[in-house]
Amino acid sequence: MGGVVIVGTQWGDEGKGKLVDLFTEEADCVVRYAGGPNAGHTLVVGTERIVVRLVPSGILRPNVRCILGQGMVVDATTFLGEIDELTKRGYECLSRLVLSDAAHLILPYHTLVDGLREAKPGGIGTTKRGVGPCYEDKIARRGVRVSLLRDPAKLRDVAKFALETWAPTILALGGKVPTLDEVLAPLASAAERLVPLIADTGREIHEALQRKQRVLFEGAQGTLLDIDHGTYPFVTSSSAAAGGACIGSGVGPRAIDRVVGLVKAYCTRVGDGPFPTELLEETGQRLRDIGREYGSVTGRPRRCGWLDLPALRYAARINGLDAFLLTKLDVLTGFEKVGVCTHYETERGRTDEWPGDGLSKVKPVIEMFPGWSESLSHARSINDLPSAARRYVEFIEAQLGVPALVVSVGERRDETIVRGSLFRN
Ligand code: IMP
Repeated sequence: MGGVVIVGTQWGDEGKGKLVDLFTEEADCVVRYAGGPNAGHTLVVGTERIVVRLVPSGILRPNVRCILGQGMVVDATTFLGEIDELTKRGYECLSRLVLSDAAHLILPYHTLVDGLREAKPGGIGTTKRGVGPCYEDKIARRGVRVSLLRDPAKLRDVAKFALETWAPTILALGGKVPTLDEVLAPLASAAERLVPLIADTGREIHEALQRKQRVLFEGAQGTLLDIDHGTYPFVTSSSAAAGGACIGSGVGPRAIDRVVGLVKAYCTRVGDGPFPTELLEETGQRLRDIGREYGSVTGRPRRCGWLDLPALRYAARINGLDAFLLTKLDVLTGFEKVGVCTHYETERGRTDEWPGDGLSKVKPVIEMFPGWSESLSHARSINDLPSAARRYVEFIEAQLGVPALVVSVGERRDETIVRGSLFRN
């Protein structure tokens, strides 16, 4: 079987867009399996920057089928807006996009509730795209699935029930309850365009794998934001870790041949929640500025800090990593010293284990490595890197026990050290 999962190992924003886009050259299909418009994957081609939220990153390659799996939550207006923008820029996509009949639709009451909750004390810093409330409806079994776009009367009934259920919450949060017609208005025109894209995507993926096609499962967010394995409750609402690829796309675990983790050369996080290696002073700001660490969806400044190895070892275990893709190494150029958290100090002593709910209480043990000042952007092999940068990569490899398949040394597609192919067949 030829399924490969690319998954974020940190708190998202590891630079998935560039590398998934790069590897889609080898793929026949790219599948998004979790999340929704809370993601923002930036693709850079030449001088052009394109941010996709729902459309899988393979869309810039003319022969790649792009599948939105059933683990996703989809905002129809955002999705169609992305399709229009891509079409305007010359990327034909309609014939290659497939939307799962079992994915859930984000409706205006979801976005409203998400925003109202975030405006009150106690919000966790969500992206306010309605993602959490939409998954709440899914679990409560009152969600509007994409397949209902084919049956407007039934869709109306399901949305009516959900709206009535949300109404007291909206009022309690100080909001105005929309009418059912207001809720359904955006779908009226969207349905006509979306229905031709709907399919049983689990079957499509299964058949593609049977034909020995190469399927790339594109993670969104990151392991530490996973609803089960992340820093709960400061997490997203879906299964972002590699295991989610099966759940969110409808294939069995044997369909996955390889799991590859995205590791940013330092750490970032948006929203609230524990972040042991966070740098609150000038160094954090410097990382933010050089790395352009501002949310691609919300524009929020991302919190920045040094690489966290206990967190990465945990992500390597949870995802069963075979290899990793190191991103944004170039951002560290010019720092006299580069820090890495090797262990945590806890009440019970030093540990390199993931402390679960105890993360907010740990103190990071930071080892400082010599930095480098040479530009990395021309490096095309590990040996082209300055020795300090090479040692940094080798140290991470040794700590995680898996090789770096790629080292990204710049934003552009060609600013990449590629040490092997993603697919084994
Ligand atoms: P939600 O997914 O919008 O509900 O937000 C829940 C948490 O996940 C918040 O801390 C967000 O900042 C974070 N989050 C959601 N999507 C992303 C992402 O694509 N990158 C980074 N953080 C994200």
